[in-house]
Amino acid sequence: MLTVIVKSAEELAVADAPEPVPAAGQVLLEVDAVGVGYVDVMSRRGEYATFPGAGATPGIEVVGRVVATGPDTPDGLVGHRFLAVLPAFGGYAEKVVADAERLLPAPEGADASDVAAVGLNALVAENALHRTGVSVGERVLVLGAGGGIGVHATQIARARGGEVTVVTSSAARGERLRALGATHVVDRTSSAPPDGDTYDVIVDTVAGPALGQHLEQLRPNGRYVLCGGAAGPPPPDAFAPLLRDFHRSPTLYAFSLNSVTSQDLQLSWKRITALLAEERLSPVIDQCLPLTEADAALRRVEAGLPFGKVVLLPE
Ligand SMILES: NC(=O)c1ccc[n+]([C@@H]2O[C@H](COP(=O)([O-])OP(=O)(O)OC[C@H]3O[C@@H](n4cnc5c(N)ncnc54)[C@H](OP(=O)(O)O)[C@@H]3O)[C@@H](O)[C@H]2O)c1
Repeated sequence: MLTVIVKSAEELAVADAPEPVPAAGQVLLEVDAVGVGYVDVMSRRGEYATFPGAGATPGIEVVGRVVATGPDTPDGLVGHRFLAVLPAFGGYAEKVVADAERLLPAPEGADASDVAAVGLNALVAENALHRTGVSVGERVLVLGAGGGIGVHATQIARARGGEVTVVTSSAARGERLRALGATHVVDRTSSAPPDGDTYDVIVDTVAGPALGQHLEQLRPNGRYVLCGGAAGPPPPDAFAPLLRDFHRSPTLYAFSLNSVTSQDLQLSWKRITALLAEERLSPVIDQCLPLTEADAALRRVEAGLPFGKVVLLPE
């Protein structure tokens, strides 16, 4: 079977590899679509702590059909299509093994690339907003709004009744985010959020040098959920506002999907598929490319060009 391996921070190779064998509690999936995300960029660069490095296959989210099960895994899964979250990587391949307990059923009749586009990004955004809670009319700020997680955070915050401000990198991206439910758009390339604007909830996939300033924009009892670091690590004093603004009871959540229990993952997926069925959430695909063009896909994500999700399709 075809697989993509990391040779170095600069080079990927498409190789023929033996089919993986599912262990106890696992299934073998024939992959229909692979979600490409910033984690894959970090994996290739050697910056993602748990990625094994050169010789390994990146990819943490696929949609595929179960073709075999390991020992002690229910046979009834065979033939069904799932979104699989893969903590042990390996998704850039025609076949991959996944833990049965972290399989999430693909909605009946849905296109595999649409499910991959929603996939892990919607799970991050939904869990983040579920943890922080958003009441009707609360002001929500989404940073990195045009990215894979950001387009879902924008839609889900709106669906929960929030008034959503997005920070993005062009007027055109801002218009697309308005169509997804944003009320206010800040183009970070030409302006800063107006001084004094404050928010009940801030969803941050960017971190970087501005994290401290964004923390200062929390309203009393505000919640800040840090989901990623597309702009790199924050400076050491970034979290000082938490103590300085103690009287306003700010809450900081650092959120990783890795720590979500299988049960909570299923519950979150149910809420997501309900939003999809009600058409209050829609997949946003930037591009679909063949698996063999993984390098181009990663370069595009690395350059911050996609609006929404890049999806790879095994041929
Ligand atoms: N918490 C979790 O469980 C989890 C899971 C997966 C990924 N992540 C992390 O979440 C982060 C985002 O992932 P993603 O897949 O959404 O990435 P993505 O699709 O590349 O989106 C990131 C977005 O951030 C904005 N951005 C990029 N560089 C920036 C900069 N220097 N300054 C300000 N904004 C910048 C861009 O949006 P605009 O152009 O619209 O501004 C970009 O589209 C990554 O760090 C990733 O590792 C976390």
